[in-house]
Amino acid sequence: MDIKNILVVGSGAMGSQIGLVAALGGCTTTVQDISAESLAAAREQLSGRVDSSVAKGRLPRGDADAALARLSFTTSLEEGAANADLVIEAATEKLDIKRSIFAALDQATPAHAILATNSSTLGSSKVADATGRPGKVCNMHFFNPALVMKCVEVVRHPGTSQDTVDTVMALARSLGKAPVLINKEVPGFVANRLMGAIRDEALRLYADGVAGFEDIDTAAKTALGHPMGPFELMDLVGLDVSYLIRQATHAETGDPADLPHPALAALYEEGRYGRKTGKGWYSYDH
Ligand code: 3HC
Repeated sequence: MDIKNILVVGSGAMGSQIGLVAALGGCTTTVQDISAESLAAAREQLSGRVDSSVAKGRLPRGDADAALARLSFTTSLEEGAANADLVIEAATEKLDIKRSIFAALDQATPAHAILATNSSTLGSSKVADATGRPGKVCNMHFFNPALVMKCVEVVRHPGTSQDTVDTVMALARSLGKAPVLINKEVPGFVANRLMGAIRDEALRLYADGVAGFEDIDTAAKTALGHPMGPFELMDLVGLDVSYLIRQATHAETGDPADLPHPALAALYEEGRYGRKTGKGWYSYDH
């Protein structure tokens, strides 16, 4: 299937950049959010990103303007869904919210539309049965910052059709990404499992007083060649996201070892979510 029209649900850090990736890739794209404020902030941030790419000589002005012209923003799910060939849901990592979004999308999109979730934790089988088209449901999981990171995990659930997998893999390639196919739904899929193992060890070393978090970050960068240390990465991804991922994983496995680390929970409870709130492990000037 040829994907021309995309709806992205959610205009947070992930949804907004996924929208721009799709528009830059030539798709007519709508970003939908229930919050007009969040949409306005996303529009401003994305045009800032585009302007900076143009200024750096990375993107011709004409291509930038054409991409922005293909990108629209709305608070109405129905409006964005009416012509969608594919939806990427990037709302909050809460199952009840995702299920109600998928049920609404099933009603509001054309019958041929693929319904994908950007969830990093919840396999799409958890939302597929809220729709009448489970074969057209899968995960299409981008990484933060979505404009930059090449990986997209395409995760099939047992009922996802081969046609859906092929279409989503091909779309990701056409957007300049490097998709990887995940054949089994396991919490965290592949990349977040790897990242989680490093983050858990980093939190343990920090909480045991072995080293300060800045020094642990320095070691990850200078000894292992990681672009960011695990604490910097938590601040980028959002401590709220990391916290909710662990809660969702624990809800699925029941394993106390999957609960958020107390040091992470303490920052979450203080509302220190990382870059987005100006304070997390580090402090940021907005
Ligand atoms: N949004 C969009 N673009 C950004 C950005 C952001 N937040 N931050 C940086 N960039 C762009 C810059 O504009 C620049 O673009 P250019 O090459 O066209 O000039 C490019 O990225 C490089 O930026 P900088 O030179 O300022 O900085 P770095 O070289 O340090 O790169 C980084 C920044 C790309 C964020 C790099 O540090 C990195 O790769 N970090 C690791 C990110 C990572 O691991 N992400 C995965 C997180 S896990 C996840 O998302 C899963 C989820 O489910 C939780």
